[in-house]
Amino acid sequence: MKKILVTYKFPGNYLNEIKNYEVKIRPENENPEKWLLNNIKDAYGILITLMDKIDREIIDHAENLKVISTYSVGYDHIDVKYALSKGIRVTNTPEVLSDSTADMIFGLMIAIARRLVEGDKLIRNNKWEAGWYPEFMLGTDVHGLTIGIVGMGRIGRAILKRAHGFDMRCIYYSRHKHDVDAQYVDIDELLKKSDYVVLCMDYNSETHHFMDYDKFLKMKKSAFIINGTRGKVINENDLIKALNNKIINGAALDVFENEPLKSENPLTKMDNVIVTPHLGSATKETRDKMAYVAVKNLINTLSGNEPLYEIKI
Ligand code: DGY
Repeated sequence: MKKILVTYKFPGNYLNEIKNYEVKIRPENENPEKWLLNNIKDAYGILITLMDKIDREIIDHAENLKVISTYSVGYDHIDVKYALSKGIRVTNTPEVLSDSTADMIFGLMIAIARRLVEGDKLIRNNKWEAGWYPEFMLGTDVHGLTIGIVGMGRIGRAILKRAHGFDMRCIYYSRHKHDVDAQYVDIDELLKKSDYVVLCMDYNSETHHFMDYDKFLKMKKSAFIINGTRGKVINENDLIKALNNKIINGAALDVFENEPLKSENPLTKMDNVIVTPHLGSATKETRDKMAYVAVKNLINTLSGNEPLYEIKI
């Protein structure tokens, strides 16, 4: 029977919908990379996550592969150009995760502004000694301040919607202008004016290390950077330097240059930084929807129909 490989278990029973193919799920004790390499030769479809690097080497091992279905919106882990050149279609799961990801990013923004994690740690470490006093743990407002959204795709728009609800002044920078209720500005103006710089663009060769020391220097000293897209859009060493030199006020990060982030990383030692482990789309509801879309993409493509979402570059 023709084979489909699935690298990680995911919510729901959608895999049961796959008929006429043998579905092989990676045993948990097997290294994902090696398992894929050892099994891909005669696979017709693979259902992967952003943890699986699908490069030339792995694609060259596949003799019958028709579709790479990634359980993610991001596809920087896949050499899409090479896959397409080999006639392999690539599908992803956008849209269903935009609102959850925007909730998370907005939550991070509020958390860093209002020092939620710091306050929580203070109590847990039994350091809340003085009670309430007028200058105790002052944070920064979110409402009424300026949010600068970099990248106005689906997630950018979902953040914009939330920002309007908070009566924020909204500006954005993107490769193209969009018909949205926010002022389009160039990147320098965005960095200069924003109290919160929120990164929502895709990661690719053009956005690699988009935020570097020069750009941090252009931000307000009182401003925060929020990142929920991919870690590599920020030069992390430059960010650490900018934070150490008090060039910016703080950072809230859900993604990192190297994941999983280890506690030795200097970012984890800073009170004005919040780090979360790539949780943007991590809700039961959204991960279930992503599973539905990822499996549907796979089934549709293999049966000669259009997937729900396909990456075309
Ligand atoms: C994606 O789907 O690319 C996200 O990063 C997962 O949260």
